[in-house]
Order: sequence, then C-alpha cells, then structure tokens
Amino acid sequence: MSLTEINVKAGNGLPGGGVGVDERCKIGFAPRENVLTMHRFRLFALCLTLAAGSLEVRAAGKGDAAKGKAVFETCTVCHNADSDEKKMGPGLKGLFKKDKMSNGKKPTDATVRARIDEGGSGMPPYKDTLSDSEKDDLLAYLKTL
Ligand code: HEC
Repeated sequence: MSLTEINVKAGNGLPGGGVGVDERCKIGFAPRENVLTMHRFRLFALCLTLAAGSLEVRAAGKGDAAKGKAVFETCTVCHNADSDEKKMGPGLKGLFKKDKMSNGKKPTDATVRARIDEGGSGMPPYKDTLSDSEKDDLLAYLKTL
C-alpha cells in the first residue's frame, strides 16, 4: 500500500485528516525548489563564463580555425588548401606568408577579408553570404595554411 493511499484513507476516515497530504506536499516541495534554484544558478554562472570567454576571443580578433576549416568547404571548389597550385583560383597554402596577393595587396586580416567580401575576377563576393564570425573563423583557418 502506498503512502498516498494511507493518507487518502486517513483523510476519508478522520475529520481534518486530509491535512496530512497537504503538509507532506509542502515539506516535499521546499527542498526540490532549492535544488532547482541551485541548478539555475549554476547554469547562469556557466553562461556568464561562456559569454566572457567569447568576448575575449572577439576582442582579440581571433576566430576559431577548426570552424573556419568547415567554412572553407565552400571555397574548395576553386581553391586548394594544401598547395599553392591553381584550381579556379590560386592555391591558398601559405597565403599569409606571401608578399602580395594577385591584386597587389599584402595579405593582412583586412586585405584578405576585403578580398573575400568583394570577390571579383572569377570569385563570388561573400560579403552577405558569410557572417562576420564565419569570416573571423575563416581568417583564423587561412592563417594555419
Ligand atoms: C568560383 C570559384 C571561387 C570560389 C568559390 C572562391 N574563390 Fe577565391 N578566388 C577565385 C579566383 C578565380 C581568384 C583569383 C582572382 C584574381 O586573379 O584576382 C580568387 C582569389 C582569392 C584570394 C586571393 C588570393 C591571391 O593570392 O591573390 C583569396 C584570399 C580567396 N580567393 C579566398 C577565397 C575564400 C576564402 C573563398 C571561400 C569563402 C573563396 N575564395 C571562394 C575563385 C573562387
């Protein structure tokens, strides 16, 4: 026989016996609420830590090279990543070590980003198709080549 059944029976049998059920609920509820609050607090703390972490990354202007590798999948039809051999466009291995890109500019975060944003000479523009953070990630990846 379960506790509820006992309480219900007691409630039926004795006047005011039903109070037992209510009381048990209150006692049972209080600690559970504390546990929930604790979880919420932990979650909140975790969110703060994550937010602070990503702010630091953004402030340093660093993307995530691993994510950038995935973004680069859209570029591999036309660009090699593992050699400087030409496909549709020039191979991008060692891009940031080059003195000049084909447009005559020295590869920096700004000039490579502009090159990706604007496209041209056979390359599509990515200004609107890639988000800022995708471009950060992409630049971080290109630097590893
Ligand atoms: C449809 C083919 C095509 C796609 C897709 C493409 N590109 Fe290009 N890209 C080119 C061509 C062609 C050039 C060379 C243009 C020139 O001669 O100035 C180029 C040039 C570049 C350059 C300059 C390299 C240099 O040494 O001058 C960079 C950097 C570059 N692309 C990055 C990217 C990235 C990053 C992506 C993906 C987001 C991408 N491209 C997608 C065709 C493409």
